[in-house]
Amino acid sequence: MKRVQLAVAPDGPTKDHQLILSEKAGLTRLSPWLTDAETAYVEQAVARDAQRFFFIRPEGKLLTVHVLKVQSNLQLALEEARLAGNEMLRELRHHKIDGFTLYNTCEDNRSLAYAEGMALGSYQFLKYYTNPEKKEKALRTIHFDASAASSADVLELQILLEAVFFARDMVNEPHSHFKAHHLAEAVRDTAFRYGFTAEVLEKDKIESLNMGGLLAVSRASAAPPKFCIMEWKPSDARNAKPLVLVGKGVVYDTGGLSIKPSEGMDYMKCDMAGGATVLAVCMAAARNRLPVHIIGLIPVCDNLISENAIVPGDVIRMYSGTTVEVLNTDAEGRLLLADALHYAKQYQPELVLDLATLTGAAVRALGNHVICVMGTAGDEVKKQLEESGWNTYERMVELPLWKEFGEELKSNIADLRNVGSGNAGMITAGKFLEHFTDYPWLHLDIAGPAYLRTANGYRTKDGTGVGVRLLYDFLKKYAKN
Ligand code: BES
Ligand code: ZN
Ligand code: ZN
Repeated sequence: MKRVQLAVAPDGPTKDHQLILSEKAGLTRLSPWLTDAETAYVEQAVARDAQRFFFIRPEGKLLTVHVLKVQSNLQLALEEARLAGNEMLRELRHHKIDGFTLYNTCEDNRSLAYAEGMALGSYQFLKYYTNPEKKEKALRTIHFDASAASSADVLELQILLEAVFFARDMVNEPHSHFKAHHLAEAVRDTAFRYGFTAEVLEKDKIESLNMGGLLAVSRASAAPPKFCIMEWKPSDARNAKPLVLVGKGVVYDTGGLSIKPSEGMDYMKCDMAGGATVLAVCMAAARNRLPVHIIGLIPVCDNLISENAIVPGDVIRMYSGTTVEVLNTDAEGRLLLADALHYAKQYQPELVLDLATLTGAAVRALGNHVICVMGTAGDEVKKQLEESGWNTYERMVELPLWKEFGEELKSNIADLRNVGSGNAGMITAGKFLEHFTDYPWLHLDIAGPAYLRTANGYRTKDGTGVGVRLLYDFLKKYAKN
């Protein structure tokens, strides 16, 4: 699959197609590109709210002017630019243009966001077509003129985009082609390639550690579970104690014996989206050499059905020693996450963030545009993460973890039960996880935005890679504070 490349434009006069970002108040700055008559035309059309203009230049090259809407707030302005970039994709396809040089004439330079939206929107997953070229609507290159971005910024964005694509690819891989060991191999390969460390705990080790949650969920599967540990520890790390990222890695969730309805079950190949995001973030952090010490943990397995499966009513003993009455085998994510959260304690982490496609309740309550966040981290961290949510438009809403929600998790046979009453299911899931933490922690339920049936702007359909841009932004700022 060919994916878009961002690069700095070569020196000298360009023979490329050209795309110029402009704004209503700055149309005169188009004078190096447009004749007076053309500028007058653009001025009139912009007054009637037109935004995109196409001019033919010698040698059959297209000159495009995109007039961006001005927004008072920077975060809205960046999102506007991303969406505008994605909109332009369609026009470029229409003109059969697969590359251009980007120029900026706006006072607030939004070229990177514009290219980001365009690149993200151009993503396709064509691997399993026999003739993918027939389906391909690829965008190949975006060259940045010096007016648009610095080479360092372009490279950083290119790496971040590759991380998002990598996460999307993993989510989009069907279970037939992506089992627990594939995710573990992706962890090892990526770490080896980009200079961070990785260790994969195999089933015997998981057994000797008594990771009862992970073992219970994976029991019905012929594929053994894996527990992936990644570490990016640069010598210039700003944090004394690590920041731990935990991702749910259920490569397929049938629900187990509490089987899901067949309608929409195909969706459940997305159930390792949290894990994919954690791996992709480690990759982006290492490649861009973020000065933050990060540990990534991904418990990996599938939730299948066989005579060995756990049955509703079973009691299991978790890695932490806590006993859990499993009343619904479809509430599996919290079982493996709980083991990973307990594992994280040994690092005495400064902060732990977990990402998981954890509950249908999160989707029903807030839909596809929102990450549900909850946890015990301090207000400052919560504020920073929320801010990163607005910066990247991977937005979140905080839900309460009041102790009353935890009452529903009392079992009359074990320490905890794995499901509550059915109301506010995303919160009872959070309460369950909280039980296994003793450090500042935030849980991100990404069940809504991780996988889309239809595209939403530059968030393409199927796996979205949600969380990669969010956490990258968060980590970058975390390193600065
Ligand atoms: N992986 C699902 C959650 C999910 C649902 C993700 C829809 C994405 C879209 C999770 O393992 C699950 O099945 N949760 C149950 C929990 C319930 C049984 C308490 C749910 O939310 O229905
Ligand atoms: Zn489930
Ligand atoms: Zn699940």
